[in-house]
Amino acid sequence: MNRREEFWVKCWRDAAEKSLYRETFPEERKCWDATADYYDAGMGSSNERVDVLLGYLKRQGFWNGSKKQILDIGSGTGAFALPLAACGAAVTALDCSPEMNRIVRQKAREKDLNVKVQTGDFNRLPFETRAYDLVIGSMNPGLYHPEPFLRMLSLSRDLVVYVGICDTPVKKKDNGSCKSLDEILLGHTLTHSGSNHVQYPCQLLKAMGYRPVVLPVQCQWRCEEEEALEVGRLIRHYETVETGIIVKNWREAIRAYVKDALQDGRFINEGKTVMGVLVCSLKSEETAMEMTV
Ligand SMILES: C[S@@+](CC[C@H](N)C(=O)[O-])C[C@H]1O[C@@H](n2cnc3c(N)ncnc32)[C@H](O)[C@@H]1O
Repeated sequence: MNRREEFWVKCWRDAAEKSLYRETFPEERKCWDATADYYDAGMGSSNERVDVLLGYLKRQGFWNGSKKQILDIGSGTGAFALPLAACGAAVTALDCSPEMNRIVRQKAREKDLNVKVQTGDFNRLPFETRAYDLVIGSMNPGLYHPEPFLRMLSLSRDLVVYVGICDTPVKKKDNGSCKSLDEILLGHTLTHSGSNHVQYPCQLLKAMGYRPVVLPVQCQWRCEEEEALEVGRLIRHYETVETGIIVKNWREAIRAYVKDALQDGRFINEGKTVMGVLVCSLKSEETAMEMTV
């Protein structure tokens, strides 16, 4: 590893160590299982990042030639895995959440798409080096750290795609409430401390001699929910917090929070953020090296 690589690995690791997520959700799977049914109605409904990648791959002529092998790490409800399979690729959708995988299997069946769905933690499973033409990880907290990212690179013989944030999210409107629910129940805002920023993989790849491209995408989502359904969803989510809830009657606090935030009897969940879709050809390093020899 050269000094620039070491520098960016350290910066990324430092940011990841400040993230409060791991402490709050030591078993990541549980928190995604609890919210899987809701994912496509909320944040998952914003498809701009998928359209941007598909357009880019088409323009670059990625689909020319043989059948592509693709690994989607943290595939969720299949935002990328399913459209990539629809383009003719052999896709492996890996996720640690059995509930997310139940949804992706069902959607693949309905669309008659051939997706191999695998359940497990990426950091604990063996994968063959350079076995895929494209390895993608989108908004996956399991990849907000340099080690899993470097491992991800080792599995691709052509492209790597990484979706992270590009800009600090505009603060979610809490419907008039001053404090977010995290602040009320946990005493602080839950962030990834910037370790989900696309600059880390981007700078690391540049330090390694590659030429990544970052395509910025404005993502937004908005959904309305009935009071009782929203309360149930939030309770299921916070039940997966093992330590850290500072309010004794926290279920009551959730009910009060939702009631207070209702607009015309509905709870509005909305968000807006700029994501970065990083695409990097791992073949270009060989070209770059040849040019510098
Ligand atoms: C925010 S969702 C993103 C889903 C999808 N990639 C997308 O862009 O919509 C993050 C997903 O990563 C999965 N995940 C988190 N850590 C993981 C790990 N270490 N191994 C496999 N999957 C993981 C979660 O279960 C969840 O489904």
